[in-house]
Amino acid sequence: MSSSPIESAVKQMTAPAILARKGHQPIVALTAYNTHMAEIADRHCDFLLVGDSLGMVAHGYQSTVPVTLDLMIAHGLSVVRGTRRALVVVDMPFGSYEESPAVAFQNAARIIKETGCGAIKLEGGAHMADTIAFLSTRGIPVMAHIGLTPQSVNVLGGYGSHGRMVEQWGGIEADAQAVSEAGAFAVVLEAMAEPLAAKITGEIAIPTIGIGASSACDGQVLVMEDMLGFGKRPAKFVKVYAEVAALIDEAVGMYSNEVRDRIFPAEQHIYKMKKQ
Ligand code: KIV
Repeated sequence: MSSSPIESAVKQMTAPAILARKGHQPIVALTAYNTHMAEIADRHCDFLLVGDSLGMVAHGYQSTVPVTLDLMIAHGLSVVRGTRRALVVVDMPFGSYEESPAVAFQNAARIIKETGCGAIKLEGGAHMADTIAFLSTRGIPVMAHIGLTPQSVNVLGGYGSHGRMVEQWGGIEADAQAVSEAGAFAVVLEAMAEPLAAKITGEIAIPTIGIGASSACDGQVLVMEDMLGFGKRPAKFVKVYAEVAALIDEAVGMYSNEVRDRIFPAEQHIYKMKKQ
C-alpha cells in the first residue's frame, strides 16, 4: 500500500463535492471495472470511473462502440460494491443517450438505480447540452467528456489529439462552455493540447478532468490497466507506474513450471485424512 492513502473512509464523495473542488486541490481519478480494483483505488481516489473503455480493456473489443447498457450496469455494480468513499461515475455507452433527453434519462436512471453509483458520464459538447440540462435538473449528476470522444471513432476516423491548431479552439471552447452552463458537474478533456486545456480550465465554472490534457486541468484520470502496464501500445499521455502485467506473466510462468515439475502443490497445500 502507498504511504499516502486517503484516510477518511467514512464520508462518501458526491458530485457537488467534486464540483466544489474547482480551483482547489487537484481531483484524483482512475477507471475501475471490478470490486478488487475498486477497493484499492477507493483508498486513493476522489472518484472512480467505470469507463466504457472496459469494452476494449476487459472484453477485447476493438472500440467502445459495441459496449451495452447491461455490461456497464454489471461492471458498475461490481465497482460500487468495492467502494466506500470515492464517487462512482458510470459511463453511458454509445447508443444509450444520443437519441433524445428522454431516452437518456430512462437509461441514466437505470444505471443509477441498478448500480447505486453517484453520477453518469456521457460524451459530447454543445450538441449534448439539452440532454445534460434535462438529466441534471431531474436528479442525475452528469460528467461531460469533450476533445477526443472515443465513441465517435467512426466519425473522427481515429484517436488523434485535439486543439493543436488555434483554428480548432473556438468549437472546443464552445463545447466546454455549453456543458458547464447546462449543469454538468465536471468535464473530461481527452487528448487536448496543453494551452487549450489551460484556457478552458480558466474559463469555465466546473472542474476539468484531464486525460492527455496536461497538469493545467483541475484533476486527472487514467485507465487503471494503462498505468499498470497492460497497454500494448500506450498513448503518449500514459505514465506506467508499475509493470504489473509483467509481474503477472512471471507469476503465471512460475506456477506453470512448478505444476509441470510436480513442485506445486507442496506438503502444506495438501489435505491429509482426519484421524479416525
Ligand atoms: O472510458 C473511459 O475510460 C473514459 C476515460 C478515458 C476518460 O472515458
